[in-house]
Amino acid sequence: MTGELPKLVLKKDEKTAVEVYLHGATVTSWKCKGKEMLFVSKNAVFNGVKAIRGGIPVVFPNFGPWELGPQHGFARTETWKIHQQPEKDESGNIVAALVLEDTEQTRKIWDYNFKFLYTLTLKDDEFSTEVSIENTGTKGFHFTTLVHTYYNVDISKMKLRGLHGCEYIDKVGGGEKKEEREALQISGNVDSVYKNTANELLLSTGDHEIRITKENLPDTVVWNPWIEKAKQMSDFGDTEYKNMVCVEPGYVAKPYDLRPAEVFKAKQTITCLC
Ligand code: BG6
Repeated sequence: MTGELPKLVLKKDEKTAVEVYLHGATVTSWKCKGKEMLFVSKNAVFNGVKAIRGGIPVVFPNFGPWELGPQHGFARTETWKIHQQPEKDESGNIVAALVLEDTEQTRKIWDYNFKFLYTLTLKDDEFSTEVSIENTGTKGFHFTTLVHTYYNVDISKMKLRGLHGCEYIDKVGGGEKKEEREALQISGNVDSVYKNTANELLLSTGDHEIRITKENLPDTVVWNPWIEKAKQMSDFGDTEYKNMVCVEPGYVAKPYDLRPAEVFKAKQTITCLC
């Protein structure tokens, strides 16, 4: 299923490792204490063209439908370069970095110069993805970005805490709402953009707990396609909605304005509390 696309492996030991494809800088595996934390569809396509269905695709420079180019932007389908091969740092963590800069192809869609540096750090029970977006051109630009993290869960037991009191855009039911639930449970199609969420969320997967912390990513998208939408996706199994949830920290509710020579920095850290 995974084909021959190039990838990097960050490995601490047999039970602690991460895999990331240069295609879309998509992380497809985070093993912590021997357990796979991320969901990747059994129908995911690894052909170097289509975005990989699962793991952590990078959304940039646009979240959602885009009048200039593909939904969720081009970062998840471009081939990234290796900036730093996986290496042990002085604390014994494994660090690797990928980079994407504008090309003739990206400028045809979106005529701006940028350098997106994506740094991955693997610790014993923690994995972080750091975003650094530099405007390397002479014109300012607006963007939205998001780390589209797919988790392995048992949806009948999953609970997500930390969104209580937040305003959200309900992309399924329509309109803006306020989250009244202390713990979110999912039993239908959910596609919600929560605004100004706390920097710490807690995901109970039905097997273990994952703490999600984020910096400079004010919003959080929660997505599960459920039965009908699952059937419409060619790269997603009909019943896989039972095994996944996306909790996606991002800068998406309003675009970020990046002036020439400025750098936007943000980070997601996920910690397994199992
Ligand atoms: C979520 C969006 O982030 O991604 C959903 O909020 C979308 O609207 C989902 O359906 C998956 O998108 P795609 O393009 O990977 O099918």
